Amino acid sequence: MLVNIKDIYQKARELSQLEKIKVGGWVKSIRESKEKIFITLNDGSTSNPFQVIISRKNFSQADLLEQINFASSLLVSGKLILTPDREQNCELQVSKIELVNSTASDYPLQKKNIPLEVVRNYPHLRAKTNYFLAMFRLRHAISKSIHDFFHQEGFYYVPTPIITSNDTEGAGELFNITINEKEPFFSKPAKLTVSGQLQAEALAQGLGKVYAFGPCFRAEKSHTTRHLAEFWMVEPEMVFADLDKIINLAERLIKHVINYILDNNSTELKYLENYDKENKKEIINKLKKIVDQQFTRIDYTQALEILKVKKENFIFNDIMWEMDLQSEHEKYLCQYFNNSPVFITNYPTNLKPFYMKNNPDGKTAACFDLLLPKIGELIGGSMRENNYHVLQKKAQKIGLDLENMNWYLNLRKYGYAPSGGFGLGLERLIMFISGAENIRDTITFPRFPGKLEF
Ligand code: 4AD
Ligand code: MG
Repeated sequence: MLVNIKDIYQKARELSQLEKIKVGGWVKSIRESKEKIFITLNDGSTSNPFQVIISRKNFSQADLLEQINFASSLLVSGKLILTPDREQNCELQVSKIELVNSTASDYPLQKKNIPLEVVRNYPHLRAKTNYFLAMFRLRHAISKSIHDFFHQEGFYYVPTPIITSNDTEGAGELFNITINEKEPFFSKPAKLTVSGQLQAEALAQGLGKVYAFGPCFRAEKSHTTRHLAEFWMVEPEMVFADLDKIINLAERLIKHVINYILDNNSTELKYLENYDKENKKEIINKLKKIVDQQFTRIDYTQALEILKVKKENFIFNDIMWEMDLQSEHEKYLCQYFNNSPVFITNYPTNLKPFYMKNNPDGKTAACFDLLLPKIGELIGGSMRENNYHVLQKKAQKIGLDLENMNWYLNLRKYGYAPSGGFGLGLERLIMFISGAENIRDTITFPRFPGKLEF
C-alpha cells in the first residue's frame, strides 16, 4: 500500500500494525554508519522529512545502495516502527527499495546552502529545495485563506478576462497579443490585462459583492525587488459601499490571512525565520503584532506633513503637493507609525487613474493605498466615479479611446449603484508574510524584464 508521508505521521499507530507499507519520495539526505544507512525522504505532502533505515546485514539489494544519491527518487517498502521519544513519531525499517530514477552528476543544486540568487536561475528545480517547498506551501495556504475570507463575507469569485482591449490603469504598460497572420484575430488590438477591475465593476452591478483573483501583466521596465511582469491580484468590488467600508474590508482580509497562516503554517514560518543562520528573521512575532493592532489611517496631506519634517533624509526631498510617494517615503511612514501598516487616503486626483471618484474638494480622489513596513504599497483601492459626465471628462483628459470604453461608461446609465474596491498584489503579501527579500522568490516561474525562461 502506497502511503504519503503526511498520512504516515497522522496514522502512525494504525499503519505500524501492518506487515508492510510503501512510500515514494525524493532523497533529502543520506547518512551511513557501519551497520545502517539512514535516508530522509520528502514527498511534498508535509514539510516533515521521513526517515527510512536500511540495515546492511541481510539486505539483499546491496549493489543498489551504491546508486542511490541525493535527490534521486525512490519507492521504499518496509515495516513502520513507532519512535515516540524522537522528534518524528515513526520511521521505516526497509525491506525493499525500488530506485525509480537516480540523479545525474550535472544536477545543479547538489550542494547545501546554495544562495537564493543562484537557485533563482533554476525555477524548474526550485520545488526540490526546502526553502521553496516552504515558500510554495505558504503561497498555497495564503491563496486558500483569501478564498475562504471572501466566501465567508458573501463575495462571489468571478473570472475576469486575461485578454482585453482596455488599459484599466491608463498607464500604458500593456503587453500586446498578436498572431502569425496578417489578419488580426480580433477586430481590435488585443492586450494582456493589467487589472480585472473594470469587468469586476460590471459584475458587481448585479451580483453585489464579487472578487477576481488571477494573473495580471504589466510591461513595467522596473528591475526592483517588488515588481514582476506577471503577478497575481485579488480584486474585490462591492456596491452600496463607501471608502471606510472598503478600507475596513482590506484590514479584515489581511488579519484573516495572517491569523490563518499563524494557526496553520508555523512549520514554514519557523523554517523561514531560521533559514539564514547569520541573519535570523523575526516573522512570527511581527505577524502577531500586526493582527493585534488597528492599522494607522491618515490622508495624503497628513502624510506630506510628516515627510516634510524629515525631508533631509530622503533622496526625493522636494516634498510638495501632487508628488507621488516614493518607496523611501512609504517605508518611512510605516516606521514613523511604529511599523504599523498605514492606510493613506485621498491622494490628489492627478496622481490616480481616471476611474477613481472625485472628492467634493475638487482636488483629491476617494481612494487609498495600504503600505506595509519594508514592502511599501500592498493595496490600491478607491470608490469609483459614478457620474457619467465626470467620468467621461476624466477618460477624455487622459486620451482614452472613448468608443472602446463606452460599455464601461454606460454602466453609469443603467442603474449604477455606488461601487468601490481594491487590488491586492498577492506576491507582495507573500513577501511580507514569508520575509522574502525578493518578489521573484514568491512565484513559481517569475517573469521580469529580460527574462522569459521556461
Ligand atoms: O495599485 P494598482 O495598480 O491597482 C489596480 O490595478 C486597481 N485596478 C485595483 C482595483 O482597485 N481593483 O495595483 C494593485 C496592487 C498594488 O498595490 C501591488 O501590490 C500590486 O497590485 N502590483 C504589483 N505587484 C507586483 N508586480 C507589479 N508589477 C505590480 N503592479 C501592481
Ligand atoms: Mg497603486
